Amino acid sequence: MKRTNIAIFVSGNGSNCENLIRYFKDSQLVNCALVVSSRADAYALVRAESLNVPCRVVTKPLLAEPDNLMPMLKEFDIDFIVLAGFLPLVPDYLLEAFPRRIINIHPSLLPKYGGKGMWGHHVHEAVKAAGEKETGMTVHYVTPICDSGEIIAQFRTPLLPTDTVEDIAEKENQLEMEHYPKVVEQVVREL
Ligand code: GRF
Repeated sequence: MKRTNIAIFVSGNGSNCENLIRYFKDSQLVNCALVVSSRADAYALVRAESLNVPCRVVTKPLLAEPDNLMPMLKEFDIDFIVLAGFLPLVPDYLLEAFPRRIINIHPSLLPKYGGKGMWGHHVHEAVKAAGEKETGMTVHYVTPICDSGEIIAQFRTPLLPTDTVEDIAEKENQLEMEHYPKVVEQVVREL
């Protein structure tokens, strides 16, 4: 059976990108075929290249034009797209080309702390400021409205009043490392 070729879309550090590539290294189901970054200086590219996954850069202005991205996805026969810290809004042409085949991870328990401007440390700072007793991660389908697609899975972790923003980020990242690849695997299995 043909493996499902996934493209991982990134913009920054790439801890999820690396974790996904390592998790699926010997998978019979999923092949991490391509990494697409919206930034040329994303550390995710260093990680992916060192793991021998082909990488391409499509900056935010280039993303607006289908002719830049779509031929790459065709070249690598991409079946499914996994966002992992990808900051630009996903353009409509891509959503149309991959219906229910683009998923994202968000570092909070959506619908809390989602939407425009809510990414990375901004999320964890808001969680801390609100005095939340727990935080977590959400995997959801991507739709034209930021962080609003159908939720696929959520995982939570308790917080202590003494937890700093960094502690919150660390606890949440541990959830991502443990669960995101398994959720991707499950969704791909059910395609
Ligand atoms: C993660 O917290 C993820 O939930 C969010 O962006 C962050 C990416 O981190 N969408 P990394 O680049 O995978 O380290």
